Amino acid sequence: MKIRGLGYIGFHATDLAPWRSFAEELLGFMPAGAPAGMASGSGPQDTLFYRLDERSWRVAVHQSPKPGLASIGWELADRTAFADAAEHLERCGVAIERSGPGARGAAAVRGVSDLVAFADPDGNRHELFYGAPTSLHDRFVSPAGVSGFVTANGMGHVLFVVRDARAAEDYYTRMLGLRTTDRMDMGAGKRAIFMRANDRHHSVAVTDVIPEPMFHHVMFEAERLEDVGRAWERLERSTTPIMMTLGQHANDPMLSFYATSPSGCGVEFGCGGTLVDDASWAVREVGPEELWGHRGPTMDAIEAGGGRS
Ligand SMILES: [Fe+2]
Repeated sequence: MKIRGLGYIGFHATDLAPWRSFAEELLGFMPAGAPAGMASGSGPQDTLFYRLDERSWRVAVHQSPKPGLASIGWELADRTAFADAAEHLERCGVAIERSGPGARGAAAVRGVSDLVAFADPDGNRHELFYGAPTSLHDRFVSPAGVSGFVTANGMGHVLFVVRDARAAEDYYTRMLGLRTTDRMDMGAGKRAIFMRANDRHHSVAVTDVIPEPMFHHVMFEAERLEDVGRAWERLERSTTPIMMTLGQHANDPMLSFYATSPSGCGVEFGCGGTLVDDASWAVREVGPEELWGHRGPTMDAIEAGGGRS
């Protein structure tokens, strides 16, 4: 399976209003209309859609009784790659849900050509799709003045807290065909493992350094340093909880901060993530270094577990 990258992400939220200000005023996402199929589905009034680039949407927020991650969309190049990927999952014994025909099918609701969905061992919903809805006429304009988002190698990355990082590495490399970039020793037998789908340093990271499995964060990469600095100032002025202060990871080395989204999970907002050469990269064993910053409860938990000093 050759995933092109992270195509879209969906969240559940009990109330859409806090997400509206979080997404538009703080992160600078551009509000978007619902895909055509959604209009005859659950109704656009129940879902917010946001653009980060020329795609018709990249982020969806669905009104729901339980907040959290809704779905992660992984993009395949075309119909052949998509069919091969779905077949691979079935051969691996993964139960997949097909989109189903008609305007109310899952593919129509997302506005994509086709999709299949499956759950990972922790119950997170993943979707494989091809044919992304794209706006050829309307330019991306951020309501908060963000100059743009870096989406050429997928729109960012996701990090899952899992029970066993090595088992999760095995799952994502075998099932989704991701390649390991870095294996990070967090101390006390715990690890963080970074896997890529393309030249982006990682599209999926997993760690067992925190005891409870959860969806930890999604990262959005802005084009410029001043986009991150200005967003950090907006966060400091807001009532949105800061998850990690401004800082810089040693391995990607993304300069970023983390905010707690209204769905409870984190959003990392950064810039300057390095690209690796997917074809020539060899796995690195690295330590849990942080160049600077990124203070907060997550880092405190890592340090309490002996992972960082
Ligand atoms: Fe991250």
